[in-house]
Amino acid sequence: MTRRYGRRRALAAACLGAALLLLGALRPAFESSAMGTSWFGGKRRSPLQTLYDLDQGPRSALAEVHRQRRELLRHACSRHTRRQHLLRPEDLQHVLVDDARGLLYCYVPKVACTNWKRVLLALSGRGPSDPRAIPAPEAHAPGLLPSLADFSPAEVNRRLRAYLAFLFVREPFERLASAYRNKLQRPWGAAFQRRFGTDIVRRLRPRPSPDALARGHDVRFAEFLAYLLDPRTRRDGPLNEHWERAHALCHPCRLRYDVVGKFETLAEDAAFVLGLAGAPGLRFPEPPPGARAAARDRAERLFRDISPFYQRRLFGLYKMDFLLFNYSVPSYLRLR
Ligand SMILES: *[C@@H]1O[C@H](CO)[C@@H](O)[C@H](O)[C@H]1NC(C)=O
Repeated sequence: MTRRYGRRRALAAACLGAALLLLGALRPAFESSAMGTSWFGGKRRSPLQTLYDLDQGPRSALAEVHRQRRELLRHACSRHTRRQHLLRPEDLQHVLVDDARGLLYCYVPKVACTNWKRVLLALSGRGPSDPRAIPAPEAHAPGLLPSLADFSPAEVNRRLRAYLAFLFVREPFERLASAYRNKLQRPWGAAFQRRFGTDIVRRLRPRPSPDALARGHDVRFAEFLAYLLDPRTRRDGPLNEHWERAHALCHPCRLRYDVVGKFETLAEDAAFVLGLAGAPGLRFPEPPPGARAAARDRAERLFRDISPFYQRRLFGLYKMDFLLFNYSVPSYLRLR
């Protein structure tokens, strides 16, 4: 009883704090008074200050690219979002916190997020200094990197004001194809297949075999898309993070992001963030050569077999990610 009351009070407090939080999110970028003047005991400038300095001086080509992406995101948000509900603590779950460096990273699964978690662990000194030496399960272990949702509203606001916030996004359909392949198609996605594949088979297949019902191992891409578009899926709760829209995980119209990194330019964008973070020597682990082109081809092949009707509806579902992050409609899509 007491515990439940305590929890409710904590929630109420968090909701009150959310109003403040929204103000924090809307503050003009680089309000210098909010950034404080010392970092690491005054020895080093914070990543946010470094970005501010970069934007004041003669801009490098890369800084200019990132300024334009921020601008485009802001503009797209004001054009395409209506009245927004306030941020709730659970909206901040995907934003990871590095207090040592002053970084906020919103992770989007299927966009190099394992490597970003590795890099953040290496940066914070909680893992080996070479990110590649950190095993993937360790990088994903809950609690190793705190989430912004774990802090009180005042603590959240302080970090939102003073830290450099970044996220990495990817062409939405390429990301979706990658999620399908990794979680539902590949033999090592057994846990996901049992959890989601069996559901999809039961719900969408007229005469499922007992084997498919038990294992969920042979879900076709078209079935996966039908599941995503099925109204019952959304009614059951938010989409799984591997296929949930990036904007629904990171709320880029309500939180201010200083750097919008892209999977398509991962190496340059990661180097840019690491430079701001004062770790230009750290090499972001690179995907194997040719991996990106292969992922793009796979997405194109998967979507080619999908009817224009489903293509259109699916584009509708992921449209905000295309608009906010400036992705053009894939050439293979038949929208009319
Ligand atoms: C948006 O995308 C177009 C087409 O790919 C590109 O020319 C333009 O530079 C992009 N704008 C920004 C701000 O990234």
